[in-house]
Amino acid sequence: MASHASPAPAFTHWSKGFDPSSLDHIPGDDGWPILGTTLKVLADPVAYGNKLRDLYGPVARSKSFGRRQVMLSGADANELVLFDRNKVFSSEQGWGPVLDQLFPRGLMLMDFEQHRVDRRALSIAFKPEPMRHYADALNQGIARRTVEWGSGPMTFYPAIKRLTLDLAATSFLGLPLGPEADALNTAFVDMVQASIGIIRKPLPFTAMGRGVAGRKLMVDWFTPQVLKRRAGGGQDMFSQFARATDEAGEYLSVDAVVDHMIFLMMAAHDTITSSATSLVWLLAKHPEWQDKLRREALAVTGGEGRPLAYDDLAKMELTDMAFKEALRLIPPVPSTPRRALKDFEFGGYRIPAGTPVGISAAAVHKMAEHWPDPERFDPLRFTPENSAGRHKYAWVPFGGGAHMCIGLHFAYMQIKILMAQLLTRYEIGVAEGYAPEWQPWPIPKPKDGLKITLTAI
Ligand code: HEM
Repeated sequence: MASHASPAPAFTHWSKGFDPSSLDHIPGDDGWPILGTTLKVLADPVAYGNKLRDLYGPVARSKSFGRRQVMLSGADANELVLFDRNKVFSSEQGWGPVLDQLFPRGLMLMDFEQHRVDRRALSIAFKPEPMRHYADALNQGIARRTVEWGSGPMTFYPAIKRLTLDLAATSFLGLPLGPEADALNTAFVDMVQASIGIIRKPLPFTAMGRGVAGRKLMVDWFTPQVLKRRAGGGQDMFSQFARATDEAGEYLSVDAVVDHMIFLMMAAHDTITSSATSLVWLLAKHPEWQDKLRREALAVTGGEGRPLAYDDLAKMELTDMAFKEALRLIPPVPSTPRRALKDFEFGGYRIPAGTPVGISAAAVHKMAEHWPDPERFDPLRFTPENSAGRHKYAWVPFGGGAHMCIGLHFAYMQIKILMAQLLTRYEIGVAEGYAPEWQPWPIPKPKDGLKITLTAI
């Protein structure tokens, strides 16, 4: 049975066992007394990270949320931390302070051997056969909703968020839309909201209070379902997880299936919502690219609103590149936290065990040495010729190494099906001169929800 006992961590708690003065030799900014650099980080973590790099170089110290940490910048830093050849960096202890309370024991909260075993078991849910079934559910759900949207002005972000939740109910949970799916969706949204809240105690009337209640509702619903799903022949992702076995051929424990499923829903939801929104925004701003993708979708599917078959996904080459470019410009996971379990060296500095370490996709995605004219939207950066010779870790929207996003093919699939359904039905427009302001963290979104107009073709 895949074990869920904690590995023996070098540090018993995220904030214990570490002497902050051991980072005195790292250049950086402790900010104000007590608050440190927290307010600067909260205002705009990407801008603040860029400023630190400009001032201090690729290894820089800051102090936010009461603790000192080190930011490592650039593609080499990403490779060191994500590939993690020497098993130095703990994902569990990096993400733990943010996610452990509401999304415990998910893959990102496991390290090394324990992580490998569970990840391998869960990978069954992403094999071609189940993916084919999810593709059917996505095609149906997206076709129905894009027809309902109809011509006229709309606010895109809440609409795609709603659609992504409903698609999760059908393709992840195998549930029809209705009151049961709605109750789970509400509980889930409360959990996600709470995980990014400042108040970490589940007091009444706080986001964390609602989040903890949401988790209880989810766990109570999922737990008895696991055995039923195990016995049934369902093709949804939850049923796949329920039937997943470890290397000894044994099922994962019921609690493990529940925790992995809830975690996966969290990992999938806002990331897809954010990236679908940024792609729609970029296509609205670049109608010439919108036309190219529309022509591609018509050629591959054979006509307006036709389903995009699983076997045809690879033919959507321009859509693939446009999505990659959207993920470069506005990565849904702008930065990734880890905690060093051993001393290591980078950029001429010795960094001690226990250090909270961060790397930033948002920063490396805008570095001119990898991306000439970095602010320009140019999907052709991702042709095989233009990609040749680029540092492998200069584009990391899905991370890399052992924890690389397990759902990335699902994300490509949902976005390609969305584009095929949307662009063959409508032109997407925005008002002259319109440029929404993006809230940069924790997952980017347009502050006004993205005001677009759909015009039937
Ligand atoms: C555009 C959409 C998405 C983006 C940008 C994204 C990004 C990421 C990133 C950066 C990581 C690695 C985090 C780290 O190393 O600390 C990750 C991990 C993960 N993602 Fe995604 N993700 C997306 C969609 C999805 C979807 C659709 C699913 C599920 C169907 C999913 C499930 C997961 C899971 C379970 C992990 C943890 C993997 C592990 O630790 O082994 N993600 N994702």
